[in-house]
Amino acid sequence: ESRVFSGVQPTGNLHLGNYLGAIKRFAGLQETHNCIYCVVDMHAITVWQDPADLQAAIREVASAYIAAGIDPKSSVIFNQSQVSGHAELAWVFNCVARMGWLNRMTQFKEKAGKNRENVSTGLFVYPNLMAADILLYKATHVPVGEDQKQHLELTRDIAAKFNNDYGERISALGLGDADGYFPLTEPVISGPATRVMSLRDGTKKMSKSDPSDLARINLTDDADTIAKKIRKAKTDTEPLPGEEDGLKERPDAANLVGIYAALAETTAADVLKTHAGAQFSTFKPELADLAVSKLAPIADEMRRLKADPGYIEGVLADGADRADAIARPVLQGVKDIVGFLSTR
Ligand code: TYM
Repeated sequence: ESRVFSGVQPTGNLHLGNYLGAIKRFAGLQETHNCIYCVVDMHAITVWQDPADLQAAIREVASAYIAAGIDPKSSVIFNQSQVSGHAELAWVFNCVARMGWLNRMTQFKEKAGKNRENVSTGLFVYPNLMAADILLYKATHVPVGEDQKQHLELTRDIAAKFNNDYGERISALGLGDADGYFPLTEPVISGPATRVMSLRDGTKKMSKSDPSDLARINLTDDADTIAKKIRKAKTDTEPLPGEEDGLKERPDAANLVGIYAALAETTAADVLKTHAGAQFSTFKPELADLAVSKLAPIADEMRRLKADPGYIEGVLADGADRADAIARPVLQGVKDIVGFLSTR
């Protein structure tokens, strides 16, 4: 049986990269899979978050999920900290993962920078919590953007080591299947926008923390702001090529074509076929119109949901109950496997 799990951090400024690389694709997977979508507030506090801002950001991510078309009745939408199994399984994984594995995580290196002595220990073990998120539900497929690939490889390593270290016990208790106790989860990184780049610099990822707001399109930007940011997006002076090969050394142009393709639900090759030879002075306004037509309804729905926090909190409460019901037997199995007493 297949199960999809993914998560987004409530750290403010949800942007087009989060939408095209993740949230939009979450909605698409609902048709064919059982899906669980989490707001990962425990990951968020690995760096300082203002408490009131965090609460607002949790509601905002949940509302973005719904506004983007995730149906809270068929999929599970919930908040990580409201299901205690995430923290419990993460502890076990802290004891499975090796220091050397975590030392190799590029995201930690980037985020910690030269300040290693002074970042939280939570930031270091962040990928173990992410593995716990996924494996608590024995999820088989995890849709994410390109930047999460290494974390998903680590998740597989943790699952494999757990399956191996406790292999005999897992068989003796009759708790394994082909892979062992935990599945070896597949990353789902696909489509034309797995790595949306900054609008100011096509070699840098679009990110929540970019000091320039012009570098990203926020999901809550209004139509004028979206159009302005696309108009000001960095480009070169050549017209668009007819084929993808022609974008190789043109990161800014490639980025805009990829964004267009993802919004239009087609491929970059197809966009180039219809826009071969176009100047940015004509391509950009078309892209802006497309972006506004796709994003404005989402922003409107998010605004509507913001005015109704009771509804969002109800969705999260219901989601937490449903997530917990799936997680509980998985966690109980882990406790039996590692040798914790289950006499109460
Ligand atoms: P986060 O909150 O940084 O980002 C959420 C999702 O958005 C994707 N993304 C992008 N995709 C394309 N282009 C971009 N510029 C871009 N920026 C962000 C991310 O790849 C991600 O899919 N560690 C995760 C959250 C997490 C998680 C999990 C994900 C926690 N537990 C379990 C999957 C499964 C993160 O920080 O994502």
